[in-house]
Amino acid sequence: MDWNAAGIIPLDTYREKRQHIPVEPVYYEEHEGVTGWRLYRYEEVKLAFTRHDLFSSQDTQPSDDPIESSILRTDPPKHRQLRMLVSKAFSPRVIEAMESSIRSLAEELFDRAEAAGQFELMADLASPLPVSVIARMLGVPNEDFERFKQWSEDLVGNNGERFQQCQQEMTVYFKEIADERRRNPQDDLITKLAEAQVEGEKLSEIELIGFCILLLVAGNETTTNLIASAFLCIDGLPEVRAELLANRSLIPAALEEVFRYCSPVQLTYRTIKEDMELCGHQLRAGDPAFLYIGSANHDETVFEQPELFNLHRNPNPHVGLGSGIHYCLGAQLARLEARVVLETLLERFPNFRVDHTVPLERIESNMMFGPKRLPVVLAGDGAGVSRYA
Ligand code: HEM
Repeated sequence: MDWNAAGIIPLDTYREKRQHIPVEPVYYEEHEGVTGWRLYRYEEVKLAFTRHDLFSSQDTQPSDDPIESSILRTDPPKHRQLRMLVSKAFSPRVIEAMESSIRSLAEELFDRAEAAGQFELMADLASPLPVSVIARMLGVPNEDFERFKQWSEDLVGNNGERFQQCQQEMTVYFKEIADERRRNPQDDLITKLAEAQVEGEKLSEIELIGFCILLLVAGNETTTNLIASAFLCIDGLPEVRAELLANRSLIPAALEEVFRYCSPVQLTYRTIKEDMELCGHQLRAGDPAFLYIGSANHDETVFEQPELFNLHRNPNPHVGLGSGIHYCLGAQLARLEARVVLETLLERFPNFRVDHTVPLERIESNMMFGPKRLPVVLAGDGAGVSRYA
């Protein structure tokens, strides 16, 4: 499997940037109209993640945009407070309890695909599954699912106007639900968020709404792409498929290698907090910095033979889910969803194959990696005989 040759992830470019460098591992570059420091090596990316006192997540301009008020875009001490408020809802116990409903949902989506006789992974499973999981967690009523799915797509699409409009619509929507839950509490995340208190403080209205919207932005497209990349890796690597079929307990390790190998989030950003020196460069307060997660996860000084998908890579200290105080809040949920999908897939369709007659095209995003479409032939047991051929 050679992603690079397909021009899918710019691994050659990343390697050149890292290796040009023992002396200057950071670049001040313009890319698509945005100038800033670009960090390609593991060491500097990790530094930027963990030194939040030097690399800020906060916007330089005050904003009333709900996402800009969310946990992802705050620094301590505010960040610590927000994280404490929301982390209970994502505790291992809460997430583990969701396994059987996620499994039923995965089974149902595969059943539908089987009945339909065709399967386009993105539209038929990888996208609806995480959206439904978040919608249920939040307590969005069933009749609003379609609207919710549409918002989720519009939030990660390329239409800026629609993005703003969508945030406004969701603000009205979630405000109404939050008000209703304050009057009439339910066993759902919106009620928990509306009631939660840390040090006597509750989430403000905009913080609550920002968090709900962030869950859609941060949690859906990313998990969708993780699932798609896992399909691509297993399809392209017969020895990995054989090992997974022989030993399903290797699925979690396979997923960690997918996080590293084709990181669903390829880059994130920070703002330099105060003037500082890094690798011989003078970085100024207010300068943007871009953390190339996809490159750090292929850094040959940390990962032996990074271009190989190694099911037995141990340790595997990838930064696909970030690191430090902003480490992905939904990490366990994403892992659970992807594991359940792969277990169900390999159980029911061990001989599935990606339909390579459709060219693999990357979604139009530098920040995310995933295919636009992924038609898959769902083949069951017996020498690749399709269950619906
Ligand atoms: C494959 C799936 C996922 C990937 C690759 C991923 C990746 C990441 C990364 C790299 C960060 C750190 C960003 C930064 O520091 O700038 C992050 C943070 C975050 N993620 Fe995820 N994520 C995934 C799934 C999810 C899910 C399922 C949820 C929730 C339902 C979620 C919610 C969040 C939140 C709330 C944050 C911000 C945490 C904070 O600021 O303290 N993510 N994620």
